[in-house]
Amino acid sequence: MKHTKIKDLLQSNTTIASVNVKGWVRTFRNNQFIALNDGSTLSNIQCVVDFENTPESILKRITTGAALSVTGSLSESQGAGQKYEIQATSVEILGDSDAEKFPMQPKKHSLEFLRENAHLRVRTNAFGAIMRVRSVLSFAVHRYFQEKGFVYVNTPIITGADAEGAGEMFQVTSLDLNHPPRTEDGQINYKEDFFGKHTNLTVSGQLEGETFAMALGQIYTFGPTFRAENSNTSRHLAEFWMIEPEVAFNDLDDNMDLAEDFIKYVVGYAVAHCAEDLKFLETRLLDEEKQKPQAERSEMSLLEKLNFVLENNFKRVSYTEAIDILKDSTPNKKKKFQYIIDQWGADLQSEHERFLVEKHFKCPVILYDYPANIKAFYMRLNEDGKTVRAMDILFPGIGEIVGGSQREERHDVLVEKMKALGIDEEELWWYLDTRRFGSAVHSGFGLGFERLVLFVTGMTNIRDVIPFPRTPQNAEF
Ligand code: 4AD
Ligand code: MG
Repeated sequence: MKHTKIKDLLQSNTTIASVNVKGWVRTFRNNQFIALNDGSTLSNIQCVVDFENTPESILKRITTGAALSVTGSLSESQGAGQKYEIQATSVEILGDSDAEKFPMQPKKHSLEFLRENAHLRVRTNAFGAIMRVRSVLSFAVHRYFQEKGFVYVNTPIITGADAEGAGEMFQVTSLDLNHPPRTEDGQINYKEDFFGKHTNLTVSGQLEGETFAMALGQIYTFGPTFRAENSNTSRHLAEFWMIEPEVAFNDLDDNMDLAEDFIKYVVGYAVAHCAEDLKFLETRLLDEEKQKPQAERSEMSLLEKLNFVLENNFKRVSYTEAIDILKDSTPNKKKKFQYIIDQWGADLQSEHERFLVEKHFKCPVILYDYPANIKAFYMRLNEDGKTVRAMDILFPGIGEIVGGSQREERHDVLVEKMKALGIDEEELWWYLDTRRFGSAVHSGFGLGFERLVLFVTGMTNIRDVIPFPRTPQNAEF
């Protein structure tokens, strides 16, 4: 008999004479009640074992973590808490588990402990829920763009261009690091490396994405990106997934409209399709918040926060306005910020971003028109000659979730900017070609997928929303 998913059985509207389920034991009580989970849904199905007719040798092997195949009837449950249960007629042990040594005991584990067991943490309720929500969110990303006619582009992961300036890069080489070939002046000779040049893992697919937008009109990327920054924070990964749409003929306002509409769509999609998992994560977050002092607790529950984002316009504020607000703010005057804001031109730290979003505006904020010298070379220079058409979206509890801009489409202005920053024109010859052949206004942005998953799941450490996190000093699994 083919096995049925537990999710489908729990949603059944009739009893069924004979069904088979396969899954893993969460708990086994009184030699009789198995809580079985197969990952299709948060809920376990209760399987009631006919212990009088089940050999002791089988009963002994029904232990936490074991894989089972259970056959029986889907019946109305006698017990509270579930509509249906399986009255088992046969239990087959597919894979034994050493219950004493199994790390995922049916009790609360710390998130740190679970990170050390990332290969098994997905067998817990919380991580099952997070990973299902993550999957639904990635489907929603594709669905949003595909429905709007965007073309999905797979930009290269290995890149020869290291000029974007988005962060430190990981080098890719097949040279023997103990005996690298040298040039006459003693430098490593990358001409003898695999690609005949120095290469890295990409920090962003944007530059290649732009070339495609200049032909296909509207494109998006959704892939892994890599940054070798040594930032050991709860918001940074060395390997993370980024979504980067790029649209020809869009200016910065269009770009902000797209980003806001996109975020609302995917958050709304998760709310509509992950009700059970989000409810569970909401309760988890409430429990966690109870450990905190009253003043630090969130005023809204997880679903309230998500609905708040769906129902309210993001506040659009220029960098200059934001600096004025920050300069006048209590934490700045009382020197509570680690970095005091004393003049226009200062780069904003996450403490400032979070003040604006969480304390001042109390809603998602889009900051735009940043000083040119704190932003990337490709952003379009404003008429004032000192700000660029950049925009960052800041989220409560997260800080920056999106970074984007209108791009500098004028060849001469772009070249001058690259010269000033010492960026090699020859290396980016292909990028500059887009400004030589049919250049046009265009814009795009990058959304850090894990930061989105953090927001939607209410988790607080980015290491807990990606299956196997890569961070400084950690590449286990
Ligand atoms: O602001 P960033 O660096 O922008 C770019 O890379 C542009 N090329 C995007 C574009 O315009 N197409 O990164 C974009 C987003 C950030 O807002 C943040 O959400 C996420 O990527 N991000 C990270 N997420 C996790 N770990 C890190 N180390 C991240 N660095 C950036
Ligand atoms: Mg950024």
